[in-house]
Amino acid sequence: MSQHIVLLAGDGIGPEIIAEAEKVLAQVNTQFALNLSWHHELLGGAAIDAHGVPLPDVTLDAARQADAILLGAVGGPKWDAIERSIRPERGLLRIRAELNLFANLRPALLYPQLAAASSLKPEIVSGLDLLIVRELTGGIYFGQPRGIRTLENGERQGFNTDIYSESEIRRIAHVAFQLAQKRNKRLLSVDKANVLEVTELWKQVVTEVAAEYPDVSLSHMYVDNAAMQLVRAPKQFDVIVTGNLFGDILSDQAAMLTGSIGMLPSASLDQQQKGMYEPCHGSAPDIAGQGIANPLATILSVAMMLRYSLQAPQAAEAIEAAVGRVLDQGLRTADIFSEGTTRVGTQAMGDAVVASLLTI
Ligand code: NAD
Ligand code: IPM
Ligand code: MN
Repeated sequence: MSQHIVLLAGDGIGPEIIAEAEKVLAQVNTQFALNLSWHHELLGGAAIDAHGVPLPDVTLDAARQADAILLGAVGGPKWDAIERSIRPERGLLRIRAELNLFANLRPALLYPQLAAASSLKPEIVSGLDLLIVRELTGGIYFGQPRGIRTLENGERQGFNTDIYSESEIRRIAHVAFQLAQKRNKRLLSVDKANVLEVTELWKQVVTEVAAEYPDVSLSHMYVDNAAMQLVRAPKQFDVIVTGNLFGDILSDQAAMLTGSIGMLPSASLDQQQKGMYEPCHGSAPDIAGQGIANPLATILSVAMMLRYSLQAPQAAEAIEAAVGRVLDQGLRTADIFSEGTTRVGTQAMGDAVVASLLTI
């Protein structure tokens, strides 16, 4: 049966990294006879430039109909001054919400070859393999009311609402417990229940759901301590479940343990495992157009897409193994470079992964 993918390159380094991911996708499609097809649509600043909105209807319709979506990244200084409701990032938030992609899986896995690229000592990070499960369609990102208003005394006031209903907490907790069951059966729920009622409820509901998963050991930690523990002793963690904002921050932090944000893939899934796959990093305007961005987070997101949405686990494993061999060869983009390795650009890294796939 043929399956269709929508590619959303986006802005900044988005088109550069998606081009490499597309090469890898084409290679596995042929090599594993996957019968996949794909086409590009616009999202973010690129869509604003072409159509005046960050998520055109044609993009949303195509995304709805697709079996999976692969996203580069959106945003950049060019669009930072336009009206908030039509900025690139709002397009990304809306597509996540419209497709009900509430479960964001962000695995932080250290390739042993990159131990020297981590900002932590090799003994702290070697063997690191943790999974952050971030709630993606609720919390303070979407809560109403929100805005910036002017008070009677003329002072401006900004406000957002952090809000989670029980059902939203329950469904992400189930996803996290089920993932923990397939791993080391340890789940940490991160909250700020000592201060915020919304996370007090989060903690209660996750604890209630735990009764259905007696084989998983559940623990709780406040987010400030979790941030500290992530750099002190990150290997204590297996699966971490948390809300939208804490998950955003902790996953960028976890990325650095693996050597670079350029290494961290992600899957954003709905209840049926339909998903959008995206690197955790952004559009990196500071290096866009230079051909030096690391495409591996996006290439590894292709692997997650093949595994979770397209039922092609062998192709997924082949990509992950090919990335490992390329790192064995000593090839490094600038963000993961260390002494004694060979610095390559975005395209050369993508080509090396394709060449490595050809050797199996
Ligand atoms: P960023 O992740 O784009 O960049 C942070 C730093 O990491 C920069 O120094 C950048 O050069 C580096 N970096 C990121 N990806 C890299 C890669 N693949 N290879 C090498 N280095 C890489 O975060 P930011 O600078 O805070 O945000 C820039 C823009 O991206 C903003 O408009 C933001 O809203 C947007 N953003 C989008 C997404 C997304 O589309 N999913 C995610 C995060 C940020
Ligand atoms: C991410 C990004 C997005 C988020 C922004 C660009 C809306 O930082 O995917 O991590 O905060 O979810
Ligand atoms: Mn982020």
